[in-house]
Amino acid sequence: MCGIIGIVGNQAVTDRLIEGLKRLEYRGYDSAGIAIMENAVSGSVLSRRRAEGKIHNLVERVAKEPVDGNLGIAHTRWATHGIANENNAHPHFAGRVGLVHNGIIENFTQLRDGLKKVRKFQTQTDTEVVAHLIDEAMKNGASAQEAFAKTIGQLTGAFALGVVIEGEDQQLFAARRGSPLAIGLGDGENYIGSDAIALASLSQKIIYLEEGDWAVLTTDSVKIFDADNAPVERPITMVSGSLAAAEKGNYKHYMLKEIYEQPETVGRTLTHYIDAFNHRVKTPEELELETLDFKNLERVTLIACGTAAYAAYVAKYWFEQLADLPTDVDIASEFRYRRPALSQNSMAIAVSQSGETADTLAALRYCQKKGLKTAALVNQMTSTMARESDYAMPINAGPEIGVASTKAFTSQLTALLSLAISSGVQRGHIDKKRETELTDALTQIPRLITETLALEPEIETLAHDLSKTENAFYMGRGVHFPLALEGALKLKEISYIHAEGYAAGELKHGPIALIEEGTPVVVIAPYDELFEKTVSNMQEVATRGAKITLITDEKGAAHTAGMAHATLVCPETQSESAPIVYAIPIQLLAYHAAVHLGTDVDQPRNLAKSVTVE
Ligand code: AGP
Repeated sequence: MCGIIGIVGNQAVTDRLIEGLKRLEYRGYDSAGIAIMENAVSGSVLSRRRAEGKIHNLVERVAKEPVDGNLGIAHTRWATHGIANENNAHPHFAGRVGLVHNGIIENFTQLRDGLKKVRKFQTQTDTEVVAHLIDEAMKNGASAQEAFAKTIGQLTGAFALGVVIEGEDQQLFAARRGSPLAIGLGDGENYIGSDAIALASLSQKIIYLEEGDWAVLTTDSVKIFDADNAPVERPITMVSGSLAAAEKGNYKHYMLKEIYEQPETVGRTLTHYIDAFNHRVKTPEELELETLDFKNLERVTLIACGTAAYAAYVAKYWFEQLADLPTDVDIASEFRYRRPALSQNSMAIAVSQSGETADTLAALRYCQKKGLKTAALVNQMTSTMARESDYAMPINAGPEIGVASTKAFTSQLTALLSLAISSGVQRGHIDKKRETELTDALTQIPRLITETLALEPEIETLAHDLSKTENAFYMGRGVHFPLALEGALKLKEISYIHAEGYAAGELKHGPIALIEEGTPVVVIAPYDELFEKTVSNMQEVATRGAKITLITDEKGAAHTAGMAHATLVCPETQSESAPIVYAIPIQLLAYHAAVHLGTDVDQPRNLAKSVTVE
């Protein structure tokens, strides 16, 4: 996952920027670069050095072509759209502007179209468009700060930015929306970094920018502005202790940090699988899966465990509804023992965050022995499953440290939805208009997740209430039935409260006998074609005393006023993408219930991050 570091200093910065990039290596990357404001005789000149591959290639480049100065930015890039080469590496330049970026700019195609008469683009990246916008605004008379503020106000999506501007030798600009960014305070200099780790060798006095914040740093001042451009003060956190603590930033647990990383990580997954610029899913060739042919496939078998299995269950609806592709989902530990009737013309897809889960790996090997094509959708591309399968497909969520899976789940869903759309296109079930609709909806997800995260205070209150119960139910229909299963698992595995997920229509076939006065029931129901039926099921349990928490949208809330004990209103979301956005409230509900109960959220009892035994 990309990393950012910047210094506005009173001494040379090049070596310290590279040191900061080395601290960011854990995030995963495949190219790197720096931009330095050189104090040339003719005044300040912005120069850059970039290199493909590991940071030592950049070090060699700088050794051959030395560059230094007291102001600079640096970046490690995890290529997800545009191959990992020097031309696509950050920093990107446009006129006087040098810029590094994490995340996805949702509306960059419209912004680019508005500029193409007056600007010449070097790449097809969203990042470069932002640099041009700032430079163009200054050409039209804006000051550097005005141009920066104006530009970020024009962007939609999730991003973190670091910017230096030729002629502004004393200013470093930064912005955070959906992708984390921190400020480090120094003695006569100041810094920006993707997290406290990047800044660890520079400062332990850290300010975490909040959603929508932007900042202007000089050697002796840090001015922060909120999303409404009003000056704000943000708290200074002293980051002490091991780097491990720093990795959590200002989050109490890795799990919460990883929940908040989701606008960025889903953005990273998206830009691997879709070409937002052309409103389409990428072809197998572009994904380096040349022979991945969904067109003539008879059947897909998705195999996984736990949370990954629930992502696979959601994907079954997408593959069948979008591509008319028969899809089985198997719990890996059951799969090979049921002696499945497998057809040769089918493909097995293992879904696994770690890529090492013993049951899933064994199932994958079983399918290979049976002559099936196999794919592994993983977060660790060096894992056994990735190495042994015919097709290794990344989810690009970055290291997931919390045992309870969160960002891997939403990235699995994002990748699976992209693949379902791709198979629909290949099988002639999705035309260009529908493909544009679906991919445009996908591109909005990072922003929708950012907006849904704003529900946290309400969710925290509900979670404290939920933490008092011994039993809880989750229910949903369609793609939200597997989400109900995932919600129950999240609550069980970190708060140790017994919880069950059900297909909403199933409760009346037995489980409703368990409902009594005050039994908590979480209902996941955006206003879609199944909403009315789900509401009927909700009323069935409400009349028997259930305490309902309804997770819906504006329309759903308007149709159920007064029916639920509490209603969480998510932003309006296209129906296929809804499970990815609605995962956020169920993650936060479980997290805050567990925190309230004082359990070990990141390392729950009895659990391992990767279950490498059957
Ligand atoms: C999810 O919160 C759990 N940690 C667990 O169910 C996990 O999803 C399962 O063990 C599968 O792991 P994998 O994705 O690494 O294969």
